[in-house]
Amino acid sequence: MNVLVTGGAGYIGSVVAAELLRAGHAVTVYDNLVHGHLSAVPEQAIFIQGDILDDPTLERVMAGGCFDAVMHFAAFIEAGASMRQPGRFFRNNVSGSINLIESAVAHGVPRFVFSSSAGVYAGQDTPLTEDDPIGPASVYGQTKLMIEEILGWYHRVHGLRYAALRYFNAAGATPERGEAHEPETHLIPNILRVALGQRDHFTLFGNDYPTPDGTNIRDYVHILDLASAHLLALEALAERAEMVYNLGNGAGYSNLQVLETARQVTGHPIPTEIAPRRPGDAPALVADASRARHDLGWEPRHHDLEEIIASAWEWHRTHPEGYED
Ligand SMILES: NC(=O)c1ccc[n+]([C@@H]2O[C@H](COP(=O)([O-])OP(=O)(O)OC[C@H]3O[C@@H](n4cnc5c(N)ncnc54)[C@H](O)[C@@H]3O)[C@@H](O)[C@H]2O)c1
Repeated sequence: MNVLVTGGAGYIGSVVAAELLRAGHAVTVYDNLVHGHLSAVPEQAIFIQGDILDDPTLERVMAGGCFDAVMHFAAFIEAGASMRQPGRFFRNNVSGSINLIESAVAHGVPRFVFSSSAGVYAGQDTPLTEDDPIGPASVYGQTKLMIEEILGWYHRVHGLRYAALRYFNAAGATPERGEAHEPETHLIPNILRVALGQRDHFTLFGNDYPTPDGTNIRDYVHILDLASAHLLALEALAERAEMVYNLGNGAGYSNLQVLETARQVTGHPIPTEIAPRRPGDAPALVADASRARHDLGWEPRHHDLEEIIASAWEWHRTHPEGYED
């Protein structure tokens, strides 16, 4: 298939773009590079620097592309920032997605795969299924929910076939591509920056949560497993027109367990300071992804925490400054 990948210069989108190419698909990456890296874009992909809010550019790309599918990763991702600047998030994530969906429909693109998030759920009673109550705790989560609902309406009105994939915590790396957000708010890369000697200590936010060791519990899913789910969803859209799936391993690890595993993997003591809780951090978020496993035949292969952290460490060790651009 010929796939337009928005946000394909970012962490997850660039890995999915590479895996699409490996599977024999053609890929055009569309990214404004606000947070992405040109050097993360696979060489065999066509790259277009553009913004999903820029209608004329989007229109030109869609009109010339004859795409079979859109995979939509482009978004602002930081929940904390979304609570300080909601307008930026609604404009970029929601208005930008509406532009993209409109343009896809106008040009007869039949399939749409969307990066949603565990941030759409209200509850923290884990593991979460797709039927658990919805109720985002952040503007960021709200933008994801709004786009899911908008996709539902475009399906009803225009017959757009879509998959909304609710990722839990994307983690790990391939030898070529890793996590380099700026600012980085994610646990594993921040821990590894200490092991690299770039920070003198790691700050752990909150050790008084109602969890066995008092720290947050999260479900880490390797980006190659996320990528395989995207490829399966792309194919499955031939059979199923509307899909919403959790993507996670179903195993929760506390921040202290992640820290301890990172110490073992890196051989570095990773000095740590405890700070107060960050607002909006749920005690525990773990996926029940049995629906994706059942319907898509998805089988995560890199679920071992040590393997996930080792892959991230390998990338950070060999790319201590992140990407060149
Ligand atoms: N990283 C996670 O753990 C996680 C979890 C749940 C959901 N998600 C979702 O997955 C997607 C990818 O996340 P990521 O971690 O790779 O983030 P990322 O910031 O690395 O990638 C996002 C990419 O989108 C681009 N972008 C942003 N706004 C754009 C715009 N208006 N026009 C064009 N390009 C734009 C950025 O330049 C960047 O390259 C996002 O939609 C995010 O909400 C990520």
